[in-house]
Amino acid sequence: MLGLAKQKKAGLLIIGFMLAQLSFSQVFAEQRPFNLGLVATAKQVAGWDIDVRPDGLGAPIGAGNAISGEEVYTDRCASCHGDFGEAVDNWPALVGGEGTLSSHDPVKTTGSYWPYASTMYDYIYRAMPFGEAQSLTHDETYQIVAYLLNMSDIIDAEYELNHSNIGKIEMPNHGGFLMPDPRPDAQPIFGNPCMKDCDVPTQIKGRARDIDVTPESES
Ligand code: HEC
Repeated sequence: MLGLAKQKKAGLLIIGFMLAQLSFSQVFAEQRPFNLGLVATAKQVAGWDIDVRPDGLGAPIGAGNAISGEEVYTDRCASCHGDFGEAVDNWPALVGGEGTLSSHDPVKTTGSYWPYASTMYDYIYRAMPFGEAQSLTHDETYQIVAYLLNMSDIIDAEYELNHSNIGKIEMPNHGGFLMPDPRPDAQPIFGNPCMKDCDVPTQIKGRARDIDVTPESES
């Protein structure tokens, strides 16, 4: 038999334990409003949280210059994008293409298109090498971006690109993006847009055949 004081203590402990469990499951339920799946661990969240914003926010700690970048690039990227970013076969070019954006056949590269070096970092780390995404280290990614920037004459070969300066690189086509987006299909819709049996006049402005995206056929 437990003494009265001990019984009280044990009771309090049990109540304390139940309260702790209650608040734990409350927190747990709040995080899982549909009662599905598991709450992601901090480590799992960190694995997904890889975005690097235009001003460099989110850039992981690391550094590299174009001289070391040449080797990594040659090893991991050149088989598709060419030794100097000129592209092999139909893979995309990463260098050149200046002045082609408004042409029939725009070539979007480091020098001609990308508005932020940090976005190149984000894209390359996230998606390249094609088929082996996220296999580069942070330093390797800084090195490769530095190499691409250097090939487009944006930085010197010795310039050390890192997490604190990647958001400050001035890219040639930075001013080529219009805000707000002027494309007709990207306009905000106000009021009550027609969703059914709408009598909208149709005007054909272009045909896919004219820009060679459909196969030719005799018929
Ligand atoms: C197996 C071929 C292959 C390899 C290797 C490869 N890429 Fe790519 N890359 C592609 C393809 C395909 C695309 C187009 C992907 C798309 O549009 O969805 C692409 C797109 C890109 C783009 C965007 C081009 C644009 O439209 O502006 C960049 C930048 C890029 N790759 C960088 C790299 C870098 C850096 C490496 C090396 C770490 C690399 N790639 C390795 C095939 C490859």
